[in-house]
Amino acid sequence: YHVDWDITAAEKDGHDWFMRKEIFEQPRAVADSLLGRRNASGLLELDEMRLDDSELRDIDRIIIIAAGTSYYAGMVAKYAIEHWTRVSVEVELASEFRYRDPILTRSTLVVAISQSGETADTLQAIRHARTQRSKVLSICNTNGSTIPRESDGVIYTYAGPEIGVASTKGYVTQLVACYLLALYLAQVKGTFFGDEIHHVMDQLDEIPQHIESVLAEADQIYKIAREHVDATSVLFLGRHAGYPVALEGALKLKELAYIHAEGFAAGEIKHGPIALIEPGLPVFCIVPPRGRDHLHDKMLSGIQEVRTRGARTICLAELDDETIAPYADTLIGLPKVPVLLQPLVAVIPLQLFACELATVMGHDVDQPRNLAKSVTVE
Ligand code: G6P
Repeated sequence: YHVDWDITAAEKDGHDWFMRKEIFEQPRAVADSLLGRRNASGLLELDEMRLDDSELRDIDRIIIIAAGTSYYAGMVAKYAIEHWTRVSVEVELASEFRYRDPILTRSTLVVAISQSGETADTLQAIRHARTQRSKVLSICNTNGSTIPRESDGVIYTYAGPEIGVASTKGYVTQLVACYLLALYLAQVKGTFFGDEIHHVMDQLDEIPQHIESVLAEADQIYKIAREHVDATSVLFLGRHAGYPVALEGALKLKELAYIHAEGFAAGEIKHGPIALIEPGLPVFCIVPPRGRDHLHDKMLSGIQEVRTRGARTICLAELDDETIAPYADTLIGLPKVPVLLQPLVAVIPLQLFACELATVMGHDVDQPRNLAKSVTVE
């Protein structure tokens, strides 16, 4: 009698890669990271926060520091925190932070985002911030790691262990933690009323099922990926909270498929990058939901601009957005969510695309060349 069972296949839950397994774990990771954040009286509660409300009320400036994918989560956080709390936010690469002699005061809150909690650049940056007496809050997925230990407070994410070097469920749970922080600050500073906080929390609670619906269409994305095995360069365009998603989509492709990829703010392409467009160039376009600030329509004209010049457009847009179809060579439907939360659903097809493309190209998706899961040297 022979039992044909492979321990790593079991750990991967039947998937070929840890990364693919982790992509599919995202609905649960998001749900777990949202769990138990509202108390009986309906107020937001962040139990490991450790900074008291009076300290937070005095904060007049926030600097977010992070590296890699975590940095792109920080860029999304800026949109949410500024919009909901009216506190000004800067986002800075951890490796650059210390060396420009940043202006830090007691009323500056430094937020370090690190999945591993061990990234040397980020750790050195928070150490510097603390010497300047700024408060440090970390967003971290690894309980008891160095960065949260050296912070004044922490918001843990509950992605579970992330094995794939390229972050996926780590990233979406960081986004959740950033939204929670933004809402918590809005609660403390009184820029949001209880019912507004509830409204956003209810929208967040729906995200796991939205991600589930995007994952249900994975085969469509895999097919698109297989059509791009010969691509040598891929561009990603986004606006508003979709801009950092474009950057993250490009990073995933570089990390996994070793393809030249760049993300741009869609409004910026006319100031230079449009010169890169040549016939057949694949361009992912993350289309904001309709309705706000004409963002959607401006994105649409950006898509037309690149398409006129021969780009092959792959558009991610709300499922029932029929305005995009004429300009999309390929259309990927996204669930209806507010623009600030759209990164949580828009990133999923980009992760699937990079994972599948790298797989068909024969690369090791879990351990891409030259990369490490956590970089503990500066
Ligand atoms: C490394 C990994 C990236 C990750 C970055 C930041 O470079 O390869 O995937 O985004 O570190 O990691 P952290 O653990 O600080 O979020």
